[in-house]
Amino acid sequence: NILILDFGSQYTQLIARRVRELNIYCEIHPFNKIPDKLEEYKAVILSGSPFSVRGENALHPDLSKIRGKKPVLAVCYGAQYLAHFSGGEVAPSDTREYGRAKLSYIKPNETFFKNINEGSQVWMSHSDTIKHLPTKGVLLASTHDVQNAAFKIEGEETYAIQFHPEVYHSTDGKQLLENFLVHIAKVNQDWTPQSFVEETVEELQQKIGNDKVVLGLSGGVDSSVAAMLLHKAIGKNLYCIFVNNGLLRKNEFLEVLDQYKDMGLNVKGVDASARFLEALAGLSDPEEKRKAIGRVFIEVFDDEAHEISDVTWLAQGTIYPDVIESVSATGGPSATIKSHHNVGGLPDFMKLKIVEPLKALFKDEVRRVGASMGMDANLLGRHPFPGPGLAIRILGDITAEKVRILQEVDAIFINGLKTWGLYDQVWQAGAILLPVNSVGVMGDERTYEKCVALRAVESTDGMTADWVNLPYEFLQKTSNDIINKVKGVNRVVYDISSKPPATIEWE
Ligand code: XMP
Repeated sequence: NILILDFGSQYTQLIARRVRELNIYCEIHPFNKIPDKLEEYKAVILSGSPFSVRGENALHPDLSKIRGKKPVLAVCYGAQYLAHFSGGEVAPSDTREYGRAKLSYIKPNETFFKNINEGSQVWMSHSDTIKHLPTKGVLLASTHDVQNAAFKIEGEETYAIQFHPEVYHSTDGKQLLENFLVHIAKVNQDWTPQSFVEETVEELQQKIGNDKVVLGLSGGVDSSVAAMLLHKAIGKNLYCIFVNNGLLRKNEFLEVLDQYKDMGLNVKGVDASARFLEALAGLSDPEEKRKAIGRVFIEVFDDEAHEISDVTWLAQGTIYPDVIESVSATGGPSATIKSHHNVGGLPDFMKLKIVEPLKALFKDEVRRVGASMGMDANLLGRHPFPGPGLAIRILGDITAEKVRILQEVDAIFINGLKTWGLYDQVWQAGAILLPVNSVGVMGDERTYEKCVALRAVESTDGMTADWVNLPYEFLQKTSNDIINKVKGVNRVVYDISSKPPATIEWE
């Protein structure tokens, strides 16, 4: 296990992902919350930071329990921190040091730079620079503009780099992390999807024993993989509930339900479409629609959970990015977000003990774990789909007829993406039913019908996104199919807005 201390860099999660790509497990902790059980960690990585070591708010944790005792790799701010507070000097740089640079000097015969040669491209992103190395600092590498691009501390296994090895533009970044973790810190590379499954199944068995667990399946990747892991661990004592809110994609409820049954899951499909539609009647404000759907879901799920006698656990498909505690803009520990439920009014299933088997994984790791359990590639490769479903893609109020129209349009679009081999190049796609009618002409007749927008984006985490440059031929064919086949639609537009400033969903 590797400890990554976060000083608030936008790249901290990338460090964790690169480390894990080396089949080494790691955890991110805020810089000011160093875990007590340090013996569990083989090495420590200090992240970058938006702060300056010279500022009043400089983040300055006490590393005396770590330095000289564990191998340390300090990145960017981490490197400046080591220099500034240990006898070196950090000052504002004369030139902007952002973007690509090349290592122009590397100290020969250093394990740290094994298999990395002069000329290697690195990614810089800093406005301070290290003018003088700290006490016992030994220069390891320079770039044209940055003299002290890498150094180590004599007598310690402490290494520091000004550039970011975690960013893909640092072409030998992964090699450098491997040199530090494998060749210097001597960490084993044995954290694989298979080992994760084995360990997790064992842990789940110990934790849960013969208890019963209830889990809500959504058709998405996370809940499905969580269910498979629990199924491996406790078999029939896992009770899955898959609710049809009537806002899923065309045929999705029955198809996915069959798929779950084929996987051997003990799953109950609950068709509550009518209940959801009734609750949505007349609502057109997006947040009110979301709330109504959330409320009905809780009611339906609670009713179903009550049907299972003596259930004691609630399983959730929470993943790592949802639980990482971040460092806030003021440099303090960020306030933990707590939902202020009225405890007396909580539905009973929310009082169950919680089990979250995917809590340590990034999304791509969830997919790999699923694949290693033999799960269907189509299920694992599914685009994200929002909980409120088509309700937030039907702008304004919702009726059964509008849902039907949008399901037809969406199916033509998504199936088209699959047929054209475009589905896997797109991070998320869907159709939006707009609340406007426009004039058209079909045959000799004038029409006055609905307009739909198509949206397809590329993204890594949904936080930022860009529209996908889909081939014109594909858009042309899809538009024709939609207008010819879906009654009530006479116009199709393609959304070419990036996020930010737009969002992925229209509501
Ligand atoms: P936006 O529209 O905020 O969407 O750019 C970012 C990602 O979040 C999904 N999304 C939701 N998911 N409940 C969900 O479970 C919601 O209310 C919700 N709103 C947006 C959206 O599909 C995209 O993947």
